[in-house]
Amino acid sequence: MIPYGRQHITAEDIDAVVKALKSDFLTQGPEIAIFEKAFAEYIGCKYAVVVSNGTAALHLCTMALDVNKNSRVITSPITFAASANCVRYCDGEVHFADIDPKTYLLDINKVRALLEKHPKGYFQGIIPVDFAGKAVNLEEYRKLADEFACWIIEDACHAPGGYFIDSKGTKQHCGNSQFADLAIFSFHPVKHIACGEGGMITTNDEKLYNKLIKLRTHGITKDLNLMHKNDGGWYYEMQELGFNYRITDFQAALGTSQLKKADASLARRKEIAIIYTESFENNHHIKGQSGIVEGHAYHLYIIEVEKRKELYDFLKSKNIFCQVHYIPVHTLPYYQSLGWKQGDFMHAENYYNACLSLPMFPTLTNDEQNFVIENINSFLNG
Ligand SMILES: Cc1ncc(COP(=O)(O)O)c(C=O)c1O
Repeated sequence: MIPYGRQHITAEDIDAVVKALKSDFLTQGPEIAIFEKAFAEYIGCKYAVVVSNGTAALHLCTMALDVNKNSRVITSPITFAASANCVRYCDGEVHFADIDPKTYLLDINKVRALLEKHPKGYFQGIIPVDFAGKAVNLEEYRKLADEFACWIIEDACHAPGGYFIDSKGTKQHCGNSQFADLAIFSFHPVKHIACGEGGMITTNDEKLYNKLIKLRTHGITKDLNLMHKNDGGWYYEMQELGFNYRITDFQAALGTSQLKKADASLARRKEIAIIYTESFENNHHIKGQSGIVEGHAYHLYIIEVEKRKELYDFLKSKNIFCQVHYIPVHTLPYYQSLGWKQGDFMHAENYYNACLSLPMFPTLTNDEQNFVIENINSFLNG
């Protein structure tokens, strides 16, 4: 069977995990800081905070930015629900703006139009998503966010290693927090780096970093400089309400080991993307495809076809398990119960009716990819 995504665990990864398991620490040992430092270097930011999953990372970000019942935050309808849910965890209001049908990213012009409809201060934040691995131009978003006094959380779950080129011609890597206040990643097995479960927050803001460290562990600190008193070596203070969003030391060891082959994996993903793009170039049944874009991290390779369900079922009968990313968040029953409805975002809904994510993972063989391409072409042209 050929899935749409699959983790790549090597003998070195297994050795790294076994070594951590045999050490004195299972949770929050030395591997945590090693992974955080290596990841911050890879992404190009000052601080990284590893947590139990990408959703926990998003939740800690909205907590650190003081989202509350008076907060309104804008995100994309084409993302995993977690990008929106993190606002609801803090009782904030989620607002959506439509996607750009060419890039599938949150359309900055639609976000601007929404911001301009209300007085400054009505919205507090924006959560753009580097959807499928395509980097959002955060320089443009920063300008817009500053105009309206908003913060930015970049949801970079799909895009470690991805980048956009800024107005000075500099590569700006996803999650480097040059323009966003905070960025987050996921280490779910289908993502670029697999920890089983895992997530990371990156930032250049020391204050937010210190807040996140505390919130990750119940709101507790043992830092003598921050505590009001010290009763002895055992003493700690819980200073605010946080969570246990820690990751284990052996998962962090796996993350560090996985990170070592991140560039090679990214290069292989790009090779696969080039083959798909060239193979479908002249197929007029394919209405749109991810294509080749500089800085794309190719978490997903997406095509758009009219007979999406039929193609999905046909490929499944051939043991090719594609996926649909995503059901528009505003049409999910929970968000409909909050007042959103089918018909609210035309581009997102049209995209959803046609999109299909093809197998895309570094260990996909050429034979497997050819089998996928042959079956798609024979179905569409048959
Ligand atoms: C865009 C996006 N945001 C957030 C998440 C949440 O990450 P996790 O599954 O690690 O909680 C995911 C993962 O599926 C995602 O794809």
